[in-house]
Amino acid sequence: MNHGEISTAAKPWLGSDENFNQLYPDSIKLLAKRHWTPIAVAEKAASFLAAENNTRILDVGSGVGKFCLAAACYKPTAFFYGVEQRNMLIAHAESARTEMQLGNVSFIHGNFTQLDFNYFDHFYFYNSFYENLSGTDKIDDSIDYTRELYNYYNRILFKKLEEKPAGTRLVTYFSGEEEVPPSFHIVCTDMGNLLKFWIKI
Ligand SMILES: C[S@@+](CC[C@H](N)C(=O)[O-])C[C@H]1O[C@@H](n2cnc3c(N)ncnc32)[C@H](O)[C@@H]1O
Repeated sequence: MNHGEISTAAKPWLGSDENFNQLYPDSIKLLAKRHWTPIAVAEKAASFLAAENNTRILDVGSGVGKFCLAAACYKPTAFFYGVEQRNMLIAHAESARTEMQLGNVSFIHGNFTQLDFNYFDHFYFYNSFYENLSGTDKIDDSIDYTRELYNYYNRILFKKLEEKPAGTRLVTYFSGEEEVPPSFHIVCTDMGNLLKFWIKI
């Protein structure tokens, strides 16, 4: 059991985003700048979300798992979960997890709307519903995009976060904040205000 040290197997991947992206095929690397969390962001978010040991952290819309995998390296005493609607991205996340030999990450294929948030302590959100807006960069054409879905997903996430107890932590990156209930308060910002750290009171 690792009590806080980054594992030797994981270390080489954390040297830079370029290193980390080598875990994925070229088609996925090309999407990294627009769609996957930079490892410097993952490190800061993990440090805030996993302030205590044995917490369960959910990435809402986990893509190819970059946030979860990097965060799991930085915080081996926490457990990171990612829920992702695209099965193909889950497959890339799983193969990267195997390559990195990480035991504290798990990926769930499905829509976050179907997930029981009671199981998780804290949350990470990288503007996952943005693709639904017209004129934005899309990951692929495998799903339908509508403004109605954007609004619907934001409403559901808002409701699920609102039901969480005081002390729940949330990190948002590039968020329009429609999904954040007023009971969550910003305690810190970073990356020119794009990265926000919230605690529910
Ligand atoms: C901007 S990417 C972020 C990926 C990952 N969180 C990261 O930071 O590297 C957003 C992801 O959310 C997923 N997503 C969007 N809406 C979703 C939903 N309703 N349920 C599950 N996944 C969703 C998309 O398929 C996409 O892979």
